[in-house]
Amino acid sequence: MISIVGCRKTHRGDGRQPPVPVLDGVDLEVRPHEFVAVLGPSGCGKTTLLRILAGLEGWDSGEVRVHGRPVSGPGTDRALVFQDFALLPWATVTDNIAFGLELRGVARAERTAVANRLIDRVGLNGFARHYPHQLSGGMQQRVGLARALAVEPEILLLDEPFGSLDSLTRRGLQEDVLRLHHETRKTVLLVTHSVDEAARLGDRVVLLGPRPARVIETIETGLPRPRPDDIGSDRRFVALKEHLWNRLKALTSR
Ligand SMILES: Nc1ncnc2c1ncn2[C@@H]1O[C@H](COP(=O)(O)OP(=O)(O)O)[C@@H](O)[C@H]1O
Ligand SMILES: [Mg+2]
Repeated sequence: MISIVGCRKTHRGDGRQPPVPVLDGVDLEVRPHEFVAVLGPSGCGKTTLLRILAGLEGWDSGEVRVHGRPVSGPGTDRALVFQDFALLPWATVTDNIAFGLELRGVARAERTAVANRLIDRVGLNGFARHYPHQLSGGMQQRVGLARALAVEPEILLLDEPFGSLDSLTRRGLQEDVLRLHHETRKTVLLVTHSVDEAARLGDRVVLLGPRPARVIETIETGLPRPRPDDIGSDRRFVALKEHLWNRLKALTSR
């Protein structure tokens, strides 16, 4: 489904800034319906990798394919959820969710119907006419999720989507995303610098080294689906986190 082989990328300098090598031959395969968590230290190149997959920027060498076809731009088979929500401040919840559909020329009545269904799905009933600034961070990110789901992508790309939320809200949204994955069987690629989040959500955890990133290790978590509520006390979960912590610490202290 997603196949990245030897992907390299250097952000060009602009004369004052020197070039920044970010991806140093990244290899990554994601199977249909899989939930893969890519874990790496801040600044290692995670957002760059997702933006390449989303078709928002290019790469220098290697292969980046979705369904066997090289990525050549954005497509409705993939939707990206941003860390900072990136909502339109002047648009209501409904219009934010329907934005991608509007771009595709879907008629208003159908857009509204889709938005209403998603408002229900992400638990924002009663907030259809609210504006982003009237919502909490957690609610804004629910809008971000709903907006991504509106175009019915097969692949959800999540860029540290819960990073700026308080821990309680974050945990709630993580559970929602797990449920969503379970119910819709979408393919999910989530990047995070949180060991706990990667272990909690992923079928597989792909560990990236510091910039320029490459894959250091790939671990099948082997944890049950659906994840039980008390996964935090599961011995395998605790051991996995310990392992990931130690690897990250060793990688970033050199
Ligand atoms: N457009 C850009 N031009 C130059 N440097 C960039 C650009 N985007 C990101 N970088 C740099 O590339 C590195 C990796 O960035 P990023 O992919 O955002 O990492 P992460 O998401 O893992 O924190 C950082 O050092 C960042 O400053
Ligand atoms: Mg990032």
